Amino acid sequence: MEFLNIALPKGRLGEKVYRLFEEAGYGCPSLLQPGRKLIFENSENMLRYFWVKPSDVAVYVERGAADIGVAGKDILAEYEPDVFELLDLGLGACRVCVAAPVNFCDDTRKTLRVATKFCNIARSFYADSGRDIDIIPLNGSIEIAPILGLSDVIVDIVETGTTLKENDLAVISEVMQVSARLIANKASFRFKNVQIEQLKEKLYEKIGANRYDQNITK
Ligand code: PRP
Repeated sequence: MEFLNIALPKGRLGEKVYRLFEEAGYGCPSLLQPGRKLIFENSENMLRYFWVKPSDVAVYVERGAADIGVAGKDILAEYEPDVFELLDLGLGACRVCVAAPVNFCDDTRKTLRVATKFCNIARSFYADSGRDIDIIPLNGSIEIAPILGLSDVIVDIVETGTTLKENDLAVISEVMQVSARLIANKASFRFKNVQIEQLKEKLYEKIGANRYDQNITK
């Protein structure tokens, strides 16, 4: 059997995702040890994990450097990588929204300035409504843009809503719901099909069990 190469998103979401893989029987004990190492192997169950920037997971998977990975639906919608989307893991649930200062009033005669790191998502959202916009691409701290007059609105991730609230911004409209997805390289899905399908099944069982647990504790 060959190694299964798995790209995980570095950060909070990645740790939750790894816990799910571990619970599903795909652990790699060295992975959570403190340090700066980025690649981890468990040769007993032929797994090789690596931590990559969340927005890069799809690149590794599309080009076959990883057989599978976990990426947010926002990243998949933005970059449309040529990969298979196998499973909604339900983790990292949030929304992509349009937000603006609380007293914002849209003047539809003017081009709307939209600051975002999701240029394609924003473009296609406004194309649907026929609104004329000017995209201002940013990489982070998007909420600052309308406060400083760089943009009229932002298109960004809203999870708890705290960042918007603390910066006197409010949601105007929801663009899409987002959660973490299991994705696979198309060639790997053929050549390592048994391994990948097995992993997908185990994860699916775990997600089902977790959802059931959540329901009965309510
Ligand atoms: C994301 C997003 C918002 C924030 C929303 O930022 O861009 O700023 O989380 O979360 P909340 O609704 O729970 O406040 P991230 O931490 O990814 O950093 P960024 O500034 O680089 O986008």
